[in-house]
Amino acid sequence: MEIIKTGAAMTAWSNEKIAGGESIALVPTMGFFHAGHLALMAAAGKMANQVVVSLFVNPIQFGENEDLDCYPRNFAGDCELAEQEGVDVIFAPSPVEMYPPGFQTAIEVKKLSLPLCGADRPGHFTGVATVVGKLFNLVKPQFAVFGEKDLQQLAIIRQMVGDLNWDIKIVGHPIVREADGLALSSRNSYLNSEERQTGLCLNRSLELARQMAGNGEKSAARLIAAIKKNIPSAVTIDYVSIVQADTLADSHEIDQDSILALAVKVGRTRLIDNGRILLPEDRRQKAEDRKGNT
Ligand code: PAJ
Repeated sequence: MEIIKTGAAMTAWSNEKIAGGESIALVPTMGFFHAGHLALMAAAGKMANQVVVSLFVNPIQFGENEDLDCYPRNFAGDCELAEQEGVDVIFAPSPVEMYPPGFQTAIEVKKLSLPLCGADRPGHFTGVATVVGKLFNLVKPQFAVFGEKDLQQLAIIRQMVGDLNWDIKIVGHPIVREADGLALSSRNSYLNSEERQTGLCLNRSLELARQMAGNGEKSAARLIAAIKKNIPSAVTIDYVSIVQADTLADSHEIDQDSILALAVKVGRTRLIDNGRILLPEDRRQKAEDRKGNT
C-alpha cells in the first residue's frame, strides 16, 4: 500500500492507472477507522481494481466551537487496517497542501445544506462539498463510496456531482452498527460507558418509529412526538425529523421514502443516526426473526 501526501503525486498516480485502463474507487474519510469505514473500503474494492482512501481531517468543515483540535487520530493504526482491507493508496495531504495561503473558493450546495445538521452547523456542508470536490479532482475516481449514516452529506454529494457534471458514480453504503444497534462513529470514542448506553436512544428511536408505523401510525408529527418523549432527559435533542430520502423535505405522512433522522448530544458528544421507517418486506422479516431469536 502506498502513502501519498501531495496532490501532485496523487494525480500523477491516478493518471498512470487510468492510462493503463484501470478503474479507481475513492473512499473519503477523516481517519480513526472503525468497521464502518472498513466496510466502505471493502465495497470500493468490489467496484474498481484500485482503491484510494483519503485520510484528511478537514478543518473547514468544523465550526469554531467544534472538536477539530481533539478529533481522534491514529495514522499508523489506520494505515495498518487499510492495508489489511486491500487498499492500494492512502492519500493523506496536510491542511496547507489542501488549503495553501490565498485559497478562497467554496462549493455551496444551497438548499440541501439548510435543514437537519446544516441548521445546527452553519458552513459545515460547504466545507464538506469543497473538500470532496477537491479530492475528486485530485484522485479522478470513477466511483466514490459514502456511508448512509451521513444521510445529508450523501444527498449533498450526489447533488453536487449532478450539478457540476462530474462523471463519478456515487455509491451509498448501509450504516454499520455495533451488536446492540449503536451506529459506529469515530466520535463514539468520546463516550464514557454510561453515555455509551444513553446513546442507544438513537437506534431505539428508530425501532419505536418502525413499530408505530408497523401498527398503522401514518402521522409524522405523532411519531416525532412519541420519539421525543422517549429520549432520556439527560440527552439534548438537536433534531428529530422525518424527511424524504432524496430531497430531505419534511415528510408529513409516512411512506416508503420516509426516513427518520436524529441528532442528539450525549454529554458533549454529538451523535447522529437515521433509517427508513417502512422497511421492505424482506428486511422487516429478518428483523422480526432476529427478535424471535433473542
Ligand atoms: P468520516 O466521518 O471519517 O466518515 C467517512 C465515511 O465513512 C463517510 O462516508 C461516512 O458516512 C462513513 N461512515 C461513518 N460511520 C459509518 C457507519 N457506521 N456505517 C457506514 N458508514 C459510515 O464523513 C466524513 O468523514 C467527512 O465528512 C468526509 C466525507 C471525509 C469529508 O471530509
